[in-house]
Amino acid sequence: MNLLVTGGAGFIGSHFVLRHKKQFPDDLIVVVDRLTYAGNKKFLEPVLSTIRFVQEDIVDYEVMAELVKKYAIDVIVNFAAETHVDRSIKNSVPFIHTNILGVQSLIEVCKTNPQVKLFHISTDEVFGDLEDDDPPFKIGDALNPSSPYAASKAAGEMLLQAAMRTYKIKACVSRCTNNYGPHQDDEKFIPTVIRSAMQNKPVPIYAQGKNKRDWLYVEDHCDALELILQTPWAFWDDKLESGHFFQISADDEQQNIDVAKMILKVLGKPESLLTFVADRPGHDWRYALDSSALRKLGWKPKVSFEEGIKRTVEWFNSKKI
Ligand SMILES: NC(=O)c1ccc[n+]([C@@H]2O[C@H](COP(=O)([O-])OP(=O)(O)OC[C@H]3O[C@@H](n4cnc5c(N)ncnc54)[C@H](O)[C@@H]3O)[C@@H](O)[C@H]2O)c1
Repeated sequence: MNLLVTGGAGFIGSHFVLRHKKQFPDDLIVVVDRLTYAGNKKFLEPVLSTIRFVQEDIVDYEVMAELVKKYAIDVIVNFAAETHVDRSIKNSVPFIHTNILGVQSLIEVCKTNPQVKLFHISTDEVFGDLEDDDPPFKIGDALNPSSPYAASKAAGEMLLQAAMRTYKIKACVSRCTNNYGPHQDDEKFIPTVIRSAMQNKPVPIYAQGKNKRDWLYVEDHCDALELILQTPWAFWDDKLESGHFFQISADDEQQNIDVAKMILKVLGKPESLLTFVADRPGHDWRYALDSSALRKLGWKPKVSFEEGIKRTVEWFNSKKI
């Protein structure tokens, strides 16, 4: 298989590339990454000599179309995105650029190269949030995003859904709950807790820390993505008009405050470092996804939260990149 992986120097994309190259060393991987603040080519160091790396913007249709032709690409896996909710609240323009215009550019590439499949990586945040007693979001529930980030991801999904139907492009979408692990950008919640605690600085917690998230270790997410990629019927075909959506979740919801306390425990730091700060505007209360369809295909998370946090802390401790 010849893969074009966008955003492959980012957090999840880099794990996906490393994992895929290990399992399928003969596959060609072309990584396209703009190298924003969140991308780091060094994450790909172990495989850099065996892949192609191109620093470009996915919004540039001409470049993307040329790469698809040059490398006879079979599948585009689209991780490229602006991903930090707080940044989207301050300035949504980069989010509109990459998460909407970028998806549109990839759709155009697939329209003109109908043999190319598009695997789009999305998020549970497209649904908005849940109350404590609500059941997890199901595939097909209405999209109801709260933040500019989530709205841009929802728009990307909708453009893709329309393109599947109108242009018959072969595509599928995966939605996952919150990820954590090595390579995650310093600004995100778990890296912020780890870094602050390691430096004995106050650990900022929004409001009372009661918001709930369902954390999945990044390698478990990548296992699920690989399973979808290797499932022949995963991508759109004429018989399945609505296209294919897959949901990935740990089914292990936790309040932010408990996550922070567990990290402090692993690091041997006092809970007195916890510092409550003003809440994020429009802060989603709770996320949960129904991932039963994927679990029927044989996927389930392998890394417990405690083990995943230990591995993440270890990476931040030894971080030289
Ligand atoms: N991190 C999570 O918890 C999570 C959960 C569910 C879904 N997702 C989705 O997974 C995908 C990857 O998320 P992540 O956390 O790895 O993101 P990230 O912010 O760590 O990495 C994004 C990567 O995309 C690159 N990029 C940004 N704009 C680009 C552009 N215009 N052209 C080319 N490259 C560009 C960046 O340089 C970076 O390497 C995103 O689509 C995100 O919505 C993330």
